[in-house]
Amino acid sequence: MVSVAVLGAAGGIGQSLSLLLKLNQAISRLSLYDIVGIPGVATDISHINTNSAVEYHIGQAQLDAALRGIDIVVIPAGVPRKPGMTRDDLFNINASIIRELIEAVADHCPSALLAIISNPVNSTVPIAAEVLKARGVYDPRRLFGVTTLDVVRAARFVRDIRPNIDTSVYIPVVGGHSGNTIVPLLSLAEPQLDLAQEEIEDLVHRIQYGGDEVVKAKNGAGSATLSMAYAAARFIESLIQSFESDSIIVEPALVDLAADTQGAKQIKTLGADGLAFFAVPVVLGKVGIKRIAPLRGEPSLLERKGIEIAAAALKVNIDKGITYVIK
Ligand code: APR
Repeated sequence: MVSVAVLGAAGGIGQSLSLLLKLNQAISRLSLYDIVGIPGVATDISHINTNSAVEYHIGQAQLDAALRGIDIVVIPAGVPRKPGMTRDDLFNINASIIRELIEAVADHCPSALLAIISNPVNSTVPIAAEVLKARGVYDPRRLFGVTTLDVVRAARFVRDIRPNIDTSVYIPVVGGHSGNTIVPLLSLAEPQLDLAQEEIEDLVHRIQYGGDEVVKAKNGAGSATLSMAYAAARFIESLIQSFESDSIIVEPALVDLAADTQGAKQIKTLGADGLAFFAVPVVLGKVGIKRIAPLRGEPSLLERKGIEIAAAALKVNIDKGITYVIK
């Protein structure tokens, strides 16, 4: 049985994610934290008759109580992208929220596994790493940027044009977690896909910019929450399973390549050389990242080009995150 804390649990992602985690019978303690609105959300969810005991904590003064004794921390706290908001605006607000929350994690549950949802993930994960390093408690095997939604969207969008394909279709996605840093490796799909060049180009674009479809459809009310919560719950479920049984489960995540320098070699030769963080499939275990899962085959030329483009943009995002902390 594990204890899970959700920081930012009263938000759009946070509420749906907390509900999905309440349904997970392997969780014994569900600690819900936010700066507003959390008593109502937590009391509501607490009436569901599953194993976990739900507790809530509100405001920074209660952050220590929210985190003490926690095994897995998941962070959807922040502001979503709204029309008119620049990426810099979003960065500055969410960077400061992540810094504050990770400092508390370092102080109160330094050995917890950490899953970060708050965008821009390409920068917030490096921020978290720097904060943990500064406090002397950093283990790259325990830090994850949640990129599961990219893999979920890839499978779903392929099935939108090939309805006969099973839900279990798997398309590896590497790189980062926004726009052209997202690189779907359609040529390595399992089972193999038979796609025309034009279909490939359309699919790659849709997977890279799938988030924009939601922002547009919500018309000013925010970004993806329900699908993001689903994807994060799936990731946390895998973390829990591997934490409890040390069974071998592979999930994608944006990780510090130092978590497995040997496994990172293949990724680096594909064009990610010089990058500290990259989204890759990882094998999960009790320690967090057991190893980086090797790609099963060579990406196509177009995909290699995509990795190069992604790497250049991702490097800027990573540097921005690191500079934010060590400036
Ligand atoms: N500590 C804890 N929670 C905070 C803090 C903080 N310092 N600042 C804000 N929050 C909470 C808000 O009170 C709110 O409940 O984070 C929650 C965010 O919820 P929403 O505004 O509904 O945003 P959401 O759509 O859930 O997106 C959250 O995830 O995908 C990313 O880009 C998205 O970064 C954004 C984050």
